[in-house]
Amino acid sequence: MTKGKQLYEGKAKKVFETDNDEYLIVSYKDDATAFNGLKKGTIAGKGVINNQMSNRLMKLLETKGVPTHFVEELSERETVVRRVKIVPLEVIVRNISAGSFSKRYGVEEGIVFDKPTVEFSYKNDELGDPLLNDDHAIALKLATEEEIAIIKKYALKVDEVLSEFWAGCGVTLVDYKLEFGKLSDGTIILADEISPDTCRLWDSKTKEKLDKDRFRRDMGGVEDAYAEIMRRLNNALK
Ligand code: TMP
Repeated sequence: MTKGKQLYEGKAKKVFETDNDEYLIVSYKDDATAFNGLKKGTIAGKGVINNQMSNRLMKLLETKGVPTHFVEELSERETVVRRVKIVPLEVIVRNISAGSFSKRYGVEEGIVFDKPTVEFSYKNDELGDPLLNDDHAIALKLATEEEIAIIKKYALKVDEVLSEFWAGCGVTLVDYKLEFGKLSDGTIILADEISPDTCRLWDSKTKEKLDKDRFRRDMGGVEDAYAEIMRRLNNALK
């Protein structure tokens, strides 16, 4: 697979064309942002960890019936993925209260829900990714009713598979954000990444944060937390 011209540079990744129309190459950076790009920094080694973690989790999800964009890991930071048109929804699944949920509803972090919640944000930086419901997404033609049903079904399957996987690593999957894309024939598949940037991961016993909240909240120990969560994943998938 030959790397072609750069199509796009996002906050955490670059995307390149390839010699095949159906494939792209993503390259993971160490750059980190928060609060819609207001806070900027670097997390040394993050790109390597996010690339490898996302690929391994997507491979696991494929075996459990969730189609993903993953094709082939090329190097520490680069992966071939299927080319999709991203559905402009941030699909957020929560098992435990934290982050914007706690803030919005005025509740403490750490409340364990009876069942997972799924919520959508409109992926639009200018508007600050506003929360929206299914009807709003349909009204705005971001997705059809059928597509939303498929996306929710996959998002909950991801929850089942990854909650169990992380529990085996002594880690609680608190919440996470997924993005889905459409192939040229309209098939919906899981895209973007699954990493400590996009998930809240707490040590099951100590509740220590092993994710990007350490960066967002200036808690220190960011690189160590990323290394620790990767170490646990590697141990589990040995
Ligand atoms: P939130 O509680 O801030 O809404 O975040 C929910 C989850 O989504 C959390 O695991 C972090 C992840 N997330 C992203 O991946 N990208 C984002 O831009 C935001 C705001 C959250």
